Amino acid sequence: MDPTLNPYSPGAGLRPPDLAGREREIAEFAVLRQRVAHGLTSRGIVMSGLRGVGKTVLLNELAAQALRDGWIVGKVEADRGESRRVFREQVAGTLHRALREATGSFELGARLRRALGTFKAFSLRTDPTGGLAIGIEIDAERGRGDTGALETDLTDLALDLSAAAVDHGVGVALFVDELQDLSRAELGALCQACHEAGQVGAQFYLVGAGLPSLPGLLADARSYAERLFDYWSIGALVDQAATDALVRPARAGGVDWASAAAELLVHRSAGYPYFLQEFGKATWNFAPGPHITLADAETGVHVGMASLDRGFFTSRWERATPSERDYMRAMSVDGDSPSQSGEVARRLAKRISSVGPTRAGLIHKGLVYAPEHGVIAFTVPGMADFIARQPAE
Ligand SMILES: Nc1ncnc2c1ncn2[C@@H]1O[C@H](COP(=O)(O)OP(=O)(O)OP(=O)(O)O)[C@@H](O)[C@H]1O
Ligand SMILES: [Mg+2]
Repeated sequence: MDPTLNPYSPGAGLRPPDLAGREREIAEFAVLRQRVAHGLTSRGIVMSGLRGVGKTVLLNELAAQALRDGWIVGKVEADRGESRRVFREQVAGTLHRALREATGSFELGARLRRALGTFKAFSLRTDPTGGLAIGIEIDAERGRGDTGALETDLTDLALDLSAAAVDHGVGVALFVDELQDLSRAELGALCQACHEAGQVGAQFYLVGAGLPSLPGLLADARSYAERLFDYWSIGALVDQAATDALVRPARAGGVDWASAAAELLVHRSAGYPYFLQEFGKATWNFAPGPHITLADAETGVHVGMASLDRGFFTSRWERATPSERDYMRAMSVDGDSPSQSGEVARRLAKRISSVGPTRAGLIHKGLVYAPEHGVIAFTVPGMADFIARQPAE
């Protein structure tokens, strides 16, 4: 069928035509925003899950909803690259945009002036050459947001921004994707800002997303973090939602899936959103139409799987050094289930301490993560099967 009308969107952060199976999360965030309108506080949100389960698209959806409600919304993606952008700079940049919008729609009362002054002080400390211009003349607020210690300055900013927002019945939300890539100090600073805001009833919320190691990293940064946030585990879609994700976008274009065809994709993707999109796209492009049959779906899964093997899995495999590949091969004995690090070392006939650097290298590359102490798992489903299909080296 016409590829220019193909409704599926395999990729990173590409909004699917139908954001299926996330109704509960969306409703919870709506409750949080309504509570803010009633002057009631809630906990911030931390979502975690494997690569490709749909954290980014959900985060973006929540951010869009907060924006529609008139919230002050910042959004950044934590950066772990070589030329790493400092988190403080990223926060200043995104809030700068948010505040320019707020000054357009909010009345410039005393609290907003103070918030702008604190923001200016915060950004001057980030970029001493002048800070970021808001578009109106505001003096930097002395002694607010300008100590240079991120936890203190972020707290000042959170308090003053939310004081300005509350005049308008809204809150302030900072959305951070790939949150696990922040340093321990940066995570601690975020926790502290949320903690202090919560204590005085300020409406400042972190909405973060990251890999399954994230809750542990936060708890390590601040021991109270486990009570500070609502933790959402984002996983594969249940069968009905996975079926909806396939069937609804096609039906909107007048195309029906035979139920056995949809069932096959749901089964072969195990409800994993990225694979659903990949298989859905391949099936659509192959199917002669006007509707999608079981035979089309069989070919679609086959073609989609080959495309994952060439791109998604191979790029991960090739990023690993030979010893890292050996390590992953030893893990793959356990399938997609987590492995005990000690057992993996035993399979390699090595001491745990001597494979430590290999394990750390794999974690750093984002290929594996430690769900708990002494345990190791792949960050994407299907990796173990892929490894089993690779010739021994
Ligand atoms: N609820 C959903 N229904 C249907 N498709 C979805 C859903 N959520 C995500 N997808 C699709 O799954 C793919 C992965 O989504 P996304 O990039 O948000 O995942 P992620 O969890 O952020 O991955 P990563 O950890 O690699 O950043 C995209 O192609 C997206 O369109
Ligand atoms: Mg993402």
